[in-house]
Amino acid sequence: MSTQATSHTSPDMAAPVTFPPGFVWGAATAAYQIEGAATVDGRGASIWDTFSHTPGAVHDGDTGDTACDHYHRYPDDVALMARLGLGAYRFSIAWPRIQPRGSGPANPAGLDFYDRLVDSLFGHGIEPIVTLYHWDLPQALEDDGGWATRDTAYRFAEYAALVHERLGDRVHRWITLNEPWCAAFLGYASGIHAPGRTDPAAAFAAAHHLLLGHGLAVRSLRDAGAGEIGITLNPAAVRPADPSAEDDAAAARTIDGLHNRIFLDPLFGRGYPADVVDVVRRFTDPAWMQPGDDDIIAAPLDLLGVNYYTPTVVAARAGTPPSAVYPGSDGIEFQAVPGPVTAMGWPIEPASFTTLLTRLAADYSGVPIWITENGAAFDDHHDPATDRVADPDRIHYLDGHLRAVHAALSAGVDVRGYLVWSLLDNFEWAEGYRKRFGIVFVHYPTQNRVPKDSARWYQAVINRGGLPGAP
Ligand code: FCB
Repeated sequence: MSTQATSHTSPDMAAPVTFPPGFVWGAATAAYQIEGAATVDGRGASIWDTFSHTPGAVHDGDTGDTACDHYHRYPDDVALMARLGLGAYRFSIAWPRIQPRGSGPANPAGLDFYDRLVDSLFGHGIEPIVTLYHWDLPQALEDDGGWATRDTAYRFAEYAALVHERLGDRVHRWITLNEPWCAAFLGYASGIHAPGRTDPAAAFAAAHHLLLGHGLAVRSLRDAGAGEIGITLNPAAVRPADPSAEDDAAAARTIDGLHNRIFLDPLFGRGYPADVVDVVRRFTDPAWMQPGDDDIIAAPLDLLGVNYYTPTVVAARAGTPPSAVYPGSDGIEFQAVPGPVTAMGWPIEPASFTTLLTRLAADYSGVPIWITENGAAFDDHHDPATDRVADPDRIHYLDGHLRAVHAALSAGVDVRGYLVWSLLDNFEWAEGYRKRFGIVFVHYPTQNRVPKDSARWYQAVINRGGLPGAP
């Protein structure tokens, strides 16, 4: 069989691939994971400050108090991005820097920081891509019910407008939310993430209010004349363990509903899928879905951000208790995928990325896709003798996944850019600092940055606009 014929599903690792002219190469981070300076310049507390300071919540008791100290070191970090040749940098704004208690007038010192960061990026020819919410809800809003409460959606839209007012003259691309599935279900159902609640009914309400907040924010950004606006999801690349078994296929469909269609269908104007509403009704009366919400949530998008790391394989297995992160998943077993895994234990399967992207383009067409995160954690070591961090596994992961993106492009999927997760090693949520996702190593005691081999490799990919053939 020719390479041509197989390239859509199984990228040929040996062939050189070139991305289209204008394809954007970059890296991503998030405020709480890198900034530190948790109490500086009037920043209020977020749910992640509270959560990380709760004994037992985060590995080793790690917190984001100092993180990568990016708040103070951003000039050097931006200079490093420029040396790597990044065309774009996706970062998030810490809501509690802008509104320390989640409402009311903006804290100018908080906005000043992002103002300086944006100017510094432009000074180096790097496009800023702003995420408005990457999980750091002001604690004061959580105290009033958090995302389980409708009011939070309105507060989010007000906050979005405040940020746009200051940065909108320079920032062209806006992402409202990062991975609302994680915010709702890891935060409010399993309690693995902040705010650490374990209430399925609250998690479904949170999912709705996140979507509503997104839609209201799109409205207020559009009214203010914003450029391109989108949302970032982490769609599950879910498949049945045995595709020929009807009950496995039904299990995959259930998880697809609880992870993907619950967000994608309303965003694309189809309202909530009936099978998902059936599950929700097992836990709560969804009285929080109010008339008119569907239209607000379905506000047209200019881009769909996709974060992809690993596939999900499920099988029907009677008697299996529900997963804490998927209320209503009784009788569904999550199966191990044979083959290599990352330091997170996440199976490495680039072909699933292509399948996911082609599915998204087929089922939710018409909106350009940006890969807003993709990357891998490995147990990296800095060799002081050579000042080098050799990370061949990460290079292999990124190479395979970029080929998978290219295969999707060849199949006609409109992918505009790729942002590697992450620029820096950082605070990996409940895992703390022990999981390293950066292409740049951070030596936390000194805050020294050392570009890993993967950073040099990525620099060459960007220079070349693609991947070389394998030797
Ligand atoms: C994603 C998050 C990001 C990072 C990666 C590894 O779910 O958006 O902040 O933690 O996973």
